Amino acid sequence: MAAALALPLNAVAAPAPIVIKFSHVVAQHTPKGQAADYFKKLAEERTKGRVKVEVYPNSQLYKDKEEMEALQLGAVQMLAPSLAKFAPLGVKEFEVFDLPFIFDNYQELHKVTQGPVGAKLLKKLEPKGILGLAYWDNGFKVMSANKPLKAVSDFRGQKMRIQSSKVLDSQMRSVGAMPQVLAFSEVYQALQTGVVDGTENPPSNLYTQKMHEVQKYVTLSDHGYLGYAVIVNKKFWQGLPADIRTILEGCMRDATKYANDIAKKDNDEALAAVKKSGRSQLISLTPQERAAWKKAMDKAHKDNMGRIGVGIVKEVYAATGYNPN
Ligand code: LMR
Repeated sequence: MAAALALPLNAVAAPAPIVIKFSHVVAQHTPKGQAADYFKKLAEERTKGRVKVEVYPNSQLYKDKEEMEALQLGAVQMLAPSLAKFAPLGVKEFEVFDLPFIFDNYQELHKVTQGPVGAKLLKKLEPKGILGLAYWDNGFKVMSANKPLKAVSDFRGQKMRIQSSKVLDSQMRSVGAMPQVLAFSEVYQALQTGVVDGTENPPSNLYTQKMHEVQKYVTLSDHGYLGYAVIVNKKFWQGLPADIRTILEGCMRDATKYANDIAKKDNDEALAAVKKSGRSQLISLTPQERAAWKKAMDKAHKDNMGRIGVGIVKEVYAATGYNPN
């Protein structure tokens, strides 16, 4: 007894670190993958090891739908799902980001993600037991297939993989394609085996999943945006010691800046790598062809106003100046 009490101070075990499991579906060398790793680095350094962040990339732990459930159940603590994947959670408003041609560039996007509408959208997650901490950029989408997609009529009958968003479903139908929802982890194989003919994604995802190796053509359309909300299990986050939470909030601010600083460059580099590979042919649209896509895809706006909420859509239009013509 006395001997036990006399244990030297350094024999007292350090408390076990707080573990944050951060699951995501993309490759490490993508804007999201790198930002997740950067958040881990900052969090572990600044909390001096009191927090350990375990990042699981590439759907290693969970696929799209399962990761949302896992977060709500507390099996993981942090995710950064694409904004197109929040409706199954019951928050359809996030599909405003999927509206085709709604953002012309990152500046317009940031008016929303870094402004009052973005904050309002994150608040809508709270009743679901989720806190939205930040928006992380990825980029503007290209459209790929095994035939050149230039005229709107080229889409007719093409089976196109989409994320689980009704707006993306409408977008594909508006040009005569047949959309099919598939988990991100299944896309490469589905393209390879012909389960679907084509898909859309920013170049960073296309390249790191090697989709360009199983697609003959890539149209540089920038017809829509794909990015993320970083979310945490609310009970977990609010239960953290206050000093730790404050440090982690700072790490998230810095990781967000990092993510948004590298996103464009990363996508530009991925596109250059696709081009260099020679595996698929890059196609540019004439201004007239692009205008024809925009006009046809405006149907996805009209058809989903009610679903997303007229108020939210109008607020985003006001911020970005969207005009179908
Ligand atoms: C997709 O499913 O295409 C994207 O959401 C993947 C991602 O997280 O970037």
